[in-house]
Amino acid sequence: GRVAVLLGGSGSEREVSLQSGQGVLDALRSRGVDAHAVDGVPALAQAILAGKFDRVFNILHGGDGENGVVQGLLEAFGIPCTGSGVLGSALTMDKIRTKQVWMSEGLPTPRFARLAPGADLHAAAASLGYPVFVKPSCEGSSVGVFRVISEADLQPAVEFAAGYAGELLMEQMVRGDELTVGIIGDIALPSIRIVPAGEWYDYHAKYIADDTQYLCPGMSPEDEAEVGALALAAFRAAGCSGWGRVDVMRDIERGLQLIEVNTAPGMTSHSLVPKAAAQIGMDYAALCWRVLEATIP
Ligand code: DAL
Ligand code: MG
Repeated sequence: GRVAVLLGGSGSEREVSLQSGQGVLDALRSRGVDAHAVDGVPALAQAILAGKFDRVFNILHGGDGENGVVQGLLEAFGIPCTGSGVLGSALTMDKIRTKQVWMSEGLPTPRFARLAPGADLHAAAASLGYPVFVKPSCEGSSVGVFRVISEADLQPAVEFAAGYAGELLMEQMVRGDELTVGIIGDIALPSIRIVPAGEWYDYHAKYIADDTQYLCPGMSPEDEAEVGALALAAFRAAGCSGWGRVDVMRDIERGLQLIEVNTAPGMTSHSLVPKAAAQIGMDYAALCWRVLEATIP
């Protein structure tokens, strides 16, 4: 049948998604799949109504690609789609609620405050302790994320971050290793330890810089087992399935800490899941095939 590769969209991660989507499209075609790019959810809805596709590879990062909206649309029409369903997508698009679920399950995640309108920012930061991160709850790729070192920077960071989707959260900064774990079906891929040349792994370090270092596997064999098990537990607790990527930090004192889940993780030439898959001998095209294949019951 025909496969729609859903990409692009109108969100802040559009450019990243166009790159991911082109990679996926080329890979699926190299495997003989009749795959076609569809830009954005409204265009996909029209194509589905017109009966043009019978399967979707979703690589639209953020917004309606990752928040359950397109998953619900496709479910209503009985069209299989890669990745998590409505619940896992909607929940993990919201970092605040994801952390609440993890905490209720006893899974480790940095302390945070939800910044409702009118919240006392200074009290929140003082209780968490500087430096803190201020993040939009529902963005990706570090868009709108600020590290706030001292009180003077707090108000401007909050005002800037407030321009993005969803509520804001303030999170305690973790000092230690930045790790990520790709998940394919029931398997956690080897972790990747990210060593940005600058101070932290921001949008520039993710997609533009060529001096970010990626170490895979990121840890010793014993620690790999621990981070893999934690990532799988976090993924399942959040109702996710299919494939995704769990971002984790290793705090010097408190050990592993869950940061967030990405249900349509990046597939660009700089992206992480393809690097981790390569480590176990799965090349980019094989990875795309596995993700698509998982939609066949
Ligand atoms: N949100 C970006 C695409 C990622 O997680 O890779
Ligand atoms: Mg993300």
